[in-house]
Order: sequence, then structure tokens, then C-alpha cells
Amino acid sequence: MPLPSSDRADVSARLREALLAVDFTADGLLELLGAPAYTALARSETVPALRATRGDGALAALVRLFLLQDSVPHARVADVLPVDALLDSGWLVADSKGAAGAGSGLRATVDVRPYGGPDGEDWFIVSDLGCAVGGAGGIGSRDEGVVLGVGGASTTLAGITVRTPVASALDIGTGSGIQALHASRHATRVTATDLNPRALHCTRLTLALSGAPEADLREGSLYEPVGDATYDLIVSNPPFVISPGARLTYRDGGMGGDDLCRSIVQEAGARLNEGGYAQFLANWQHVEGEEWTERLRSWVPRGCDAWIVQREVQDVTQYAELWLRDAGDHRTDPAEYAARYDAWLDEFEARKTRAVGFGWITLRKSGAAEPSVTVEEWPHPVEQPLGEAVQAFFERQDYLRDHDDAALLAAHFKLAGEVVQEQVGLPGAEDPEHVVLRQHRGMRRATKVDTVGAGFAGVCDGSLSAGRILDAIAQLMGEDPVLLRDRTPAQIRLLVEQGFLEPVGR
Ligand SMILES: C[S@@+](CC[C@H](N)C(=O)[O-])C[C@H]1O[C@@H](n2cnc3c(N)ncnc32)[C@H](O)[C@@H]1O
Repeated sequence: MPLPSSDRADVSARLREALLAVDFTADGLLELLGAPAYTALARSETVPALRATRGDGALAALVRLFLLQDSVPHARVADVLPVDALLDSGWLVADSKGAAGAGSGLRATVDVRPYGGPDGEDWFIVSDLGCAVGGAGGIGSRDEGVVLGVGGASTTLAGITVRTPVASALDIGTGSGIQALHASRHATRVTATDLNPRALHCTRLTLALSGAPEADLREGSLYEPVGDATYDLIVSNPPFVISPGARLTYRDGGMGGDDLCRSIVQEAGARLNEGGYAQFLANWQHVEGEEWTERLRSWVPRGCDAWIVQREVQDVTQYAELWLRDAGDHRTDPAEYAARYDAWLDEFEARKTRAVGFGWITLRKSGAAEPSVTVEEWPHPVEQPLGEAVQAFFERQDYLRDHDDAALLAAHFKLAGEVVQEQVGLPGAEDPEHVVLRQHRGMRRATKVDTVGAGFAGVCDGSLSAGRILDAIAQLMGEDPVLLRDRTPAQIRLLVEQGFLEPVGR
């Protein structure tokens, strides 16, 4: 299906105005459809939304047109939208299916999905029809260059991105343009690249329809279209799927194994300005005889600090099934499905891969002689958006790098907000088996501490130095203060690193 013309800024502006006039917005949809149908639609399940839009209201007509891929009578559309201009510029086409009312029906050529920006902006994401989150039945026989809308991975990356004002941002593999759209709020110049020209076209439409500034759009693979340019922020939700062959451009990178993710991370070092961040979603192999953490460490480019979080691990069968379903292969002939499944397992066997990790990779160009690289597993729920928490993590790394144990003991700390203590042990037992400190914000971390750690954290209100607090605890517990001062800094370091304790007067 040809895409609407992206040269008609006047038409995009009129369309935006018309959509907003009838509250075709994220909030408007939620009100019309109700939460269950609204969230079902985000899963590409359309039946509840079809039931909720049986009425003849203007908003219902737009939902049917732009989200449900339905034919809507010309007169109903003309009540709401500038039909002639939209037909002329290719946003709408006359229905040619010959169904009831044929000749008088109109269809949309693209999916236009309202998307609420972080400050309540009314944005619209333009993508190919009927696959805004991959389609409940999978992508099926769609063209390899199909452009998907916003999915869970897209919003995850948007949520973890550090949003400080910057001069330049680069979005690699922009797709429908959602990351570029977010970047347009805080970056003076946004460059967006994609291997797929259709994706760049959708991005241009997304930005125009959302009332955002134009971006510098470049076609090509990974960093190739931007030459030697450097950026303050690089983001990418790349085609990270580790698959037996390139089939769908939006997910299969076309390089072997996790090579695409490795190269995009490794090459980011040379493309970042000092202090700049690069943030990626990625998949990585868990290879027999190799620590996955070491594999990831080896990807970190020189001069960069890194924070790598593994959010989930799937064994190779779960992983293959996930992506077979995503492609709609489960709906094909069983023998064909079995052959495809086999091909995935062959690929993993050849690569000695047992499982695949999913997660987030953040780099910060610090130029530090001894960069800090943290690779960890945190599969638990977090509080999005996390951009500020990501930035704070790197600031704490700077602090810890600059403070040896003696300096830590001389420093003052404050317990972070909304941290609670949990005691874990057998019911009725006098003493807990262990004590856990738990955060209710950000990463929502939990960490085991000993009695000294718990007591220390509880007293930290910034007034006494860490050393003085330890001396007091030593006295209370009848311990040798010198020994306590000697063994506790490692625990304090961990509590600072994980954000339970905040240095005072930094
Ligand atoms: C998973 S989609 C992400 C789309 C969008 N950025 C988002 O967050 O929803 C990956 C995008 O990368 C593009 N792509 C695939 N191979 C690429 C490559 N080698 N270089 C640049 N982009 C590529 C695809 O066309 C697709 O638009």
C-alpha cells in the first residue's frame, strides 16, 4: 500500500487539527473505548474496540478508520475530516472491496494511533495498517519492509532514555519515529536513520502529524548514514532478534547471532560526545562455557562507563516460539511451522547458544581511565520513566570512583526516600533470618543487609559522618570499632551504588 505524501505539510496540519477537534487522543480513546478495550487494542485485539464503536459518533468513525482498518461511509468521514485533501495526498482511499455501500466507503492507508507525550502532548504515531503492536495473529504474509507502530519495547526504551536538554540526538532504526519524536522535545537537532525507506517516510509523517519539528532523516545501515558525526544522545531499539535468517526488517538484523547488537554498542563509543549517553535495547546469546556477563563486558567501548541490565532470559525453545508467533508462523501449515522451528534450533545449536538474554544497555562517555562497567540481572518490575534514575546511577558511579574507603567513612549520607525495611524469616522466630531494604521508586531494588547495614541505613539522616555512625554501632554491639570501620565500606558502597543511600552535599 503506498504511503501518504509526506510533502504536504499543509494537509498534515489540517488532519492534526481535525483529529484534535473530536478528541482523537489517547485520553479520548480511553474514554470512548473503556480501559479493557483500549488495552486490548494495544495488544492488537480488535473485537472489544469494534463493539465499543458501533455507535455513529465522530470519534468512533475515526477509530474504525485509522485503528480498525474498517471502511467508513464517505459522508461520516466528511463530517470530521478534510476528505478531498486526504484523498488527494493519499491518507485515504475509496473503498474498492465492493462490499455493501461500496463506492461510498473510505479507508485509511496507514494506522494513525494517538499517543500521549510525557507532558500531555497529543502525538500521533503513523505506521503500516493493522500491526501497531505486531498484530495478534502475527505479521503473517506481510511484506518484509512492514513498519510497525509502538510496542512494549518502544515505550520501554522511551522510558529509560535520559531526557536532559542536548544539542544533538541520533535515533538508529527509527521505524515509526517514536524515539525521534520523544527526542524532539529535548534535543535541538534530531537525526533519525533506518535501513527501510518506508520507515523514514512514516517517521516524517509521525513528526508532522504530531506537530513536532522535522528531523534529519537518513537511509542506511546503523551508523553508516551519519559518517563521523558525533552526538550527545544516541538511542536505538534495533532489530535485535537472533534468528536463522533475515526475514522481517523491523526485527531481524541480518547479521549472525547477536552481532548487530554488539556492533551498535561497540561503535557508539566513537559517536558520542563527552558526557553523552547511548541507550539501547538488545538481545544477547548465553553461550556454553561463557559467562554472559563477560560477553556483555567485552562489548563496552573504550572511554565509556556502562550499565547493562538483563531483564529476562528465555531458553532457546521459548525464544524461537516467541518469534515464530510474532511472524504468524503458528498459523501456517504444521509441517512448515515445524521446519521453521527446526531452523531456529539448528541456528542456536551451531552457535552453542543455550538461552537468550533481553535487556537494556546504557553507555556514558566519561573518558575515565578506569571506566565503571556494571552488568547485572534485575528481572523485577520497575517504575517507568527511569531516565532520571539512569542519570543518577552514573552520577553515583562518579561519586564512588572519586571516594576511597577513607573518604566514604568521612562522608555523610541520607537514606533515600520511600525505602522500607523488611524482615524475612520463619513465622514466630525471634530474630529474622535476614533483613531486606526495599525501594518503592525507580528500579524498585531490594537488597539483603546485615544488622550493621540495616542499623547504619536507618540512622543516615545526613547529620553524622559514616565513620561516626559506625563507631556508635560498634559501641552498642560491643564490637571493635576499627574492625567495623574496616569491613563496612563495601556494604556502604553497594548501598550508595544502588541508590539506597544518597551522599549529602554533593
Ligand atoms: C524494532 S524496530 C524499532 C522501531 C522504533 N525505533 C521503535 O522504537 O519502535 C527496528 C527498526 O530498525 C530498522 N532496521 C533494520 N535493520 C537496520 C539496520 N541495519 N540499520 C538501521 N536500521 C535498521 C527497521 O527497519 C526498524 O524500523
